Amino acid sequence: METHQRRGRTHTSLSSLITLITIASPLASAAPSLTDDSKCECYLTNGTQASFFATHRFLDFRNLAKHAGVPPTIAKPNDSGSAPVTSEYFTSKEWTETFWVQSWNNSHQTREDATVLMVNSPNNVYIEANGDRNPSSQTWLTLRTQRLKDFQTASEIESVAPGFQYLSVRMLARTVGSPGAITALFTYRGSDRLADVQESDLEVRTMDPRNTIQYTNQPSYTEDGDEIDHATKNVTIPQGLPDWTHWAVHRLDWTPKETVWYVDGTEVATISFQTPRDPSKVILNAWSDGGEWSGNMTVNEAAYLQIQWLEIVYNATDENPAKKRKRNGGTGMLRGRDGDDDDDEKDGSCDVVCSIDETTERGKPVTLWNNGGVRMVGGGLITWIPSLTVLGMLALSSGWLW
Ligand SMILES: *[C@@H]1O[C@H](CO)[C@@H](O)[C@H](O)[C@H]1NC(C)=O
Ligand SMILES: *[C@@H]1O[C@H](CO)[C@@H](O)[C@H](O)[C@H]1NC(C)=O
Ligand SMILES: *[C@@H]1O[C@H](CO)[C@@H](O)[C@H](O)[C@H]1NC(C)=O
Ligand SMILES: *[C@@H]1O[C@H](CO)[C@@H](O)[C@H](O)[C@H]1NC(C)=O
Ligand SMILES: *[C@@H]1O[C@H](CO)[C@@H](O)[C@H](O)[C@H]1NC(C)=O
Ligand SMILES: *[C@@H]1O[C@H](CO)[C@@H](O)[C@H](O)[C@H]1NC(C)=O
Repeated sequence: METHQRRGRTHTSLSSLITLITIASPLASAAPSLTDDSKCECYLTNGTQASFFATHRFLDFRNLAKHAGVPPTIAKPNDSGSAPVTSEYFTSKEWTETFWVQSWNNSHQTREDATVLMVNSPNNVYIEANGDRNPSSQTWLTLRTQRLKDFQTASEIESVAPGFQYLSVRMLARTVGSPGAITALFTYRGSDRLADVQESDLEVRTMDPRNTIQYTNQPSYTEDGDEIDHATKNVTIPQGLPDWTHWAVHRLDWTPKETVWYVDGTEVATISFQTPRDPSKVILNAWSDGGEWSGNMTVNEAAYLQIQWLEIVYNATDENPAKKRKRNGGTGMLRGRDGDDDDDEKDGSCDVVCSIDETTERGKPVTLWNNGGVRMVGGGLITWIPSLTVLGMLALSSGWLW
């Protein structure tokens, strides 16, 4: 019922937009109806850095009851690092094509103020039954970190793909547990030189108040230990938005100009200083090393990053969207009327523009408009979207028509 109404509203508003577009151009457009990724040629995000992206990925941890189970913590450091994954979900194609569960430890690391051995264990990454009083899902994904007598057991998952270059990543998540840990979602491009690290972070410090989140474009300090103030923001989440102990959609938009962070669709931070430029991984973790940043966790206590779903639209250097469509067989693909895919590949054109923001079903895109193969010729136009359409899009994201 609610869905029906929302879609109705969307139809009306979008038809005004379409009218606007159609007045001055022959572009054919469609209402934003639910579709699937095989039919989308690109994705347009909303927000202050509204951008086009080539690829969409959605990982849903809400209905994985057959994989649910909380594995007891492994008390020995060595066994912890070498533990197997906790369920078959983590050997499924969906998971292994996207994430890689880490098992490194900090024994050879030089983070000077670390006071505790930290071991990332696959045993700390698991599917858990939703035990909330009013559960909004069957299950979620947990990343656990716990202090044991001799070490801190921790968790980290890294994207298999190393070449994200600009993205909008969102997760429905919360952090619960004891002080002395960090839970994080970030883009990462490592380097031996601290100054060359490129990284946009969302970090929850469990020792901090529940309504503060730290957002950073690293590095936020120098080799000499000096702080780089404008690289980082300690943000107080505005009243009315959920604090980090409650379920909220946390969103990080890494764009060429700046990184923008949102909580439940409200912009909470923007940093244009040191915006990462080069291809990066996506990483999530829950950890502590007894140092100043993470704090010291009391023995036997724990903290958890819990995630119901994770959604990304992105461009990647190692993945040309047009090539990918061909590799996948290309059946059922919308093509230009001339059927000339090579042109798409060369000019990066996008005829079918989708959205993950305007959807009524999380994880499923909607079609914003479909240019139906109309070629923009003669104008030297090599961008994805004709400028008039971009105008319409701006109208859409700035709310003129809503
Ligand atoms: C994006 O669109 C969705 C759906 O209309 C809305 O809930 C959200 O607040 C928007 N976000 C921004 C940043 O405009
Ligand atoms: C993603 O790639 C497309 C095609 O090259 C480009 O038009 C778009 O601007 C890129 N997005 C960002 C955020 O750079
Ligand atoms: C852990 O493994 C290392 C080698 O991998 C070994 O040197 C060390 O003795 C082991 N520690 C324990 C407590 O078993
Ligand atoms: C830590 O990692 C090193 C390899 O980098 C390995 O040799 C060692 O056994 C690991 N220690 C633990 C406790 O997992
Ligand atoms: C962030 O600000 C809060 C107060 O608003 C403070 O309690 C907390 O320690 C600060 N966190 C950091 C990392 O500076
Ligand atoms: C954390 O605890 C260890 C002892 O377990 C201690 O050596 C260290 O100074 C503590 N660190 C902080 C930041 O309090």
